[in-house]
Amino acid sequence: MRRALARIDLAAIERNCIRLARVAAPAALCTVVKADGYGHGAAPAARAAQAGGAAWLAVATAHEAAELREEGIGGPILVMGALSGQELTVALRARADIVAWSDGFVAALAAHPAAAGTGVHVKLDTGMGRLGTREEEEASRTAAAVAEAPRLRLAGAMTHLATADDDDPTFAREQLARFTPWAHAIRAAHGPLLRHVANSAATLGIPAARLDMVRCGIAAYGMDPFGEDPRRHGLTPALELRSYLAEVKPIAVGESAGYGRRFVAEAPTSIGTVPIGYGDGVRRALTNDCDLLIGGRRVPLVGAVSMDNVTVDLGRAPPERGAEVVLIGSQGPERVLAEEWARRLGTINYEITCAISRRVPREYHREADG
Ligand SMILES: Cc1ncc(COP(=O)(O)O)c(C=O)c1O
Repeated sequence: MRRALARIDLAAIERNCIRLARVAAPAALCTVVKADGYGHGAAPAARAAQAGGAAWLAVATAHEAAELREEGIGGPILVMGALSGQELTVALRARADIVAWSDGFVAALAAHPAAAGTGVHVKLDTGMGRLGTREEEEASRTAAAVAEAPRLRLAGAMTHLATADDDDPTFAREQLARFTPWAHAIRAAHGPLLRHVANSAATLGIPAARLDMVRCGIAAYGMDPFGEDPRRHGLTPALELRSYLAEVKPIAVGESAGYGRRFVAEAPTSIGTVPIGYGDGVRRALTNDCDLLIGGRRVPLVGAVSMDNVTVDLGRAPPERGAEVVLIGSQGPERVLAEEWARRLGTINYEITCAISRRVPREYHREADG
């Protein structure tokens, strides 16, 4: 029995990617495996994504690309984030494609000793307001500089949507309307390249945004980009977070559990201690506000989440020590989704799986197809 364990179903990632690739076709699927594959493990997630039809992988940082190569991952990798001089060298050595939005950067890149043959994707900022240039002319100059540099390849034209997961599609459509004519002109001037815009939400919800390639992260892991229920989109959650009942003891009226006495028994009951806490990614804000699954039923977390333990109210007929505890995932007829934690915490499902810390071992299996 492991005190805390993240079980990752690689068949679920593969199947989710098959589904996304089908939805996106004829656009290619690029699976986003940054932040250690949204907490699932970058290299295993990347392999499962490729098996599921991902033609491309994307990461945020140069070192993430280098790590994938060290793990023996082949195929095209796009580093989507900004790169300092040192990071650029790491990205180029990893044979990754990179993103550019100024001709000054392209000049430095073209002169880099490791740049030969590098694919460059030019980024227009159509409204996200982070990376990329807001000026079409500057983006076009950047594309021309890449196309004219004999050692570089103009591989893509991209933008990123700020509100694809909103009920109101207006702003996403405006972004798309800015991007499409610019990208069309770049293609007309410089020949074939990949135009890519859509994240998971846009891939599922805005067909016009699929263009030549979609960049899907959250949906590949079986989470709902709209924060509701992945089943609505035919997606299967890939990650389960498990622990076990390390201690079970009776507690009398007026006795308490945990730091700060945030739970005081109002009736005789049993307290169970589950050895997982905020040091593992169970956020402290779930104090007195979470259900765990034990014996196929929901059991309330009571008291404060501490670094290494949480306590649960097991009632008067408690399960035995050693019983399996599911924090995220299914047990019997019950399930707890990352989306449920996100709602309770006022955050997004992305942050839930990314927050599962290094202390929690990842165990890989294939279940969705078995
Ligand atoms: C530039 C870019 N494209 C695509 C994605 C994937 O987004 P999602 O996980 O919502 O599919 C991200 C992730 O945040 C991103 O930063």
